[in-house]
Amino acid sequence: MGLTEQAVEALRTVPFPGLGRDIVALGYVKDIQERDGRAVVSIEMSTKLPEAADRIRQAAGDALDRAGVPHELEIQVRSPAAEAPAPEAPQPQPQPTPALLQDVPVKIAVASGKGGVGKSTVAVNLALAFARQGGKVGLLDCDVYGPSVPLMMGMESERPEVRDGKLVPLSRYDVRTISIGYLIDRETPVIWRGPMAGKALDQLMGEVDWTGVEMLILDLPPGTGDIQITLAQKISLSGAVVVTTPQDVALIDAAKGVSMFHKVDVSVLGIVENMSAFACPHCGETTEIFRSGGGRREAERLGIPLLGSIPIDPRIPVGGDTGVPIVVQDPDSAPGRAFLDAARAIRERIR
Ligand SMILES: Nc1ncnc2c1ncn2[C@@H]1O[C@H](COP(=O)(O)OP(=O)(O)OP(=O)(O)O)[C@@H](O)[C@H]1O
Ligand SMILES: [Mg+2]
Repeated sequence: MGLTEQAVEALRTVPFPGLGRDIVALGYVKDIQERDGRAVVSIEMSTKLPEAADRIRQAAGDALDRAGVPHELEIQVRSPAAEAPAPEAPQPQPQPTPALLQDVPVKIAVASGKGGVGKSTVAVNLALAFARQGGKVGLLDCDVYGPSVPLMMGMESERPEVRDGKLVPLSRYDVRTISIGYLIDRETPVIWRGPMAGKALDQLMGEVDWTGVEMLILDLPPGTGDIQITLAQKISLSGAVVVTTPQDVALIDAAKGVSMFHKVDVSVLGIVENMSAFACPHCGETTEIFRSGGGRREAERLGIPLLGSIPIDPRIPVGGDTGVPIVVQDPDSAPGRAFLDAARAIRERIR
């Protein structure tokens, strides 16, 4: 086997973080030339995560060393926004331009493959945590079928003003929010389907005055279907946070969520494991209810960070229903601290 083939074989053992595929299969190895008995390997990848390049450099170097291939590595990183999707990505339907929400510098989607894992709870509390840490934060409820932000923020009966043709977000606890729930009555049956829901979302994303907001958290509807993919394409997201519970079913769906974002070239900032253990508010003791560590194992398997584990706390559903989220209610509680830590971990990853 020649040097080039040996190098290719070795590089096939290098996975790209989060994608579950190797860098050769992903087409990131652009060229290998033999020069003075060394394999000169050019790797070109698209990622928004600066450390991914370092990790690949390290892993590729190690793999070539293990295979006994003398080498030189040239690694180039391109920004995903500036190029076409990777060849493996499903060809996205009409290529929408990421024109929406361009004035907001940082946009983070909170998503989950499976419903009911606590995505809205995480989105709301992360937004509040960022605000407590001094950020100018907005929260956009993208769940047009089952909006939760109005109830969770205690603003169900409020209606946003329209100024100069734009909706003015409703502010509470230093977080500005917009939700379809503000625009329809709870009793109104949501009869929108497919395209209409998409249209409602476009309006929600395009016709809101977010002036001054530096960081927008988007609470996505559950799943990895068309709505989520289109959304990720229309907005140039800074990254996505995938929420899961520790059970296997949820973890499988979390992996689907991660791979969906990779396919549309959105970097996954990490996983938040929710309802990880029971933190008794009375005695302070923590009890594992589900098999523990599932989120951590899955994050490791996918090569992405675990941003935090939020314990189960009976005050979370109560706070959700009464409009006093746990980060406001008791920031020093175990879940409160877990949210604040997760917010810090996220900020570190978006530069
Ligand atoms: N850590 C937690 N401890 C206790 N209850 C929680 C926790 N996280 C979420 N819950 C509760 O679980 C329920 C579902 O949470 P939430 O609505 O945030 O999930 P979701 O993923 O947004 O759901 P959907 O898929 O319907 O949008 C809510 O009643 C919420 O209060
Ligand atoms: Mg929700």
